[in-house]
Amino acid sequence: MTTGKLDGRVAIVTGAGGGLGAECARVLAAHGASLAIVDINEAAAARVATEIEASGGSAMSVATDVSSEESVEAMVSAVMERFGRIDVLHNNAAVLDVAQRQNDRDICNLDIAAWDRAIAVNLRGSVLCTKHVVPVMVKQGKGSVIFATSGLGAQGDLSLTGYACSKAALNMMPKLVAAQYGKQGVRGNAVQIGLAPAENAHSSMPKELLDILRDNHMTPELGTPRQIADVVAFLASDESSFVTGTTLVADGGFSSHTPSLVAMQAFFSQSDRKGM
Ligand SMILES: NC(=O)c1ccc[n+]([C@@H]2O[C@H](COP(=O)([O-])OP(=O)(O)OC[C@H]3O[C@@H](n4cnc5c(N)ncnc54)[C@H](O)[C@@H]3O)[C@@H](O)[C@H]2O)c1
Repeated sequence: MTTGKLDGRVAIVTGAGGGLGAECARVLAAHGASLAIVDINEAAAARVATEIEASGGSAMSVATDVSSEESVEAMVSAVMERFGRIDVLHNNAAVLDVAQRQNDRDICNLDIAAWDRAIAVNLRGSVLCTKHVVPVMVKQGKGSVIFATSGLGAQGDLSLTGYACSKAALNMMPKLVAAQYGKQGVRGNAVQIGLAPAENAHSSMPKELLDILRDNHMTPELGTPRQIADVVAFLASDESSFVTGTTLVADGGFSSHTPSLVAMQAFFSQSDRKGM
């Protein structure tokens, strides 16, 4: 599938060494963009770039710690040196490894180092990449900056306090990009992502948990990385040229319904059976 809607464009995807970032990079490349695969995991980033090149695309990998300003500046210079322009920045990187998830808990049990990591990578990292890429876009008179946010940044949950606060703050970034650089041709938008695990992650989740989650989605199935990547490609392209300063929710309706909906459905189906 190549639409050519991103032909001649250069896109940076952070955290593209795996998961949703890698899928976004593949889809942007399939639409014609040249890709900078940015990740702290050098080997993973190189694998994704090689895969894109092998399928006829154009890609480079840049080992980068997005939480370090020095590292981000070096990454932007490397991308400019290779491709000479930057049209799309997808701020996708987040710290989500097992240790981080275990330590970024409810407020009273929060390991404050995990809080600091979540804020440093998810929030500060996105701010740093935006800070160093937007001047390039302003010079070009055009650009699209995208932020990966999460339902956990909009609704309270039992754990992941630092992650949730970092994602809540990120919802402000598209509005700031739009207000500050919109007249110079730079758009900013966020995607509030619902559960869209990589295919192999489904098998590691207990069936009961998947059923609870599926029941709370207003789509037949849970999300896939490809469905998120398609939204990112829309925001990256001119198809969304009149969309800026907003957060697009891509979560299968998970956050669209009343909290009691699933319990009510169960209640009414039981009432029907009892002839109530
Ligand atoms: N997968 C989902 O269901 C889901 C749901 C809601 C939101 N999201 C958001 O989507 C994005 C991708 O999620 P994912 O599930 O693919 O995560 P993932 O853990 O699979 O990928 C994150 C990537 O970021 C990289 N990374 C971590 N720290 C970094 C740093 N300091 N510098 C550069 N790269 C770094 C990792 O190496 C990894 O490749 C995240 O922003 C996440 O919050 C995902």
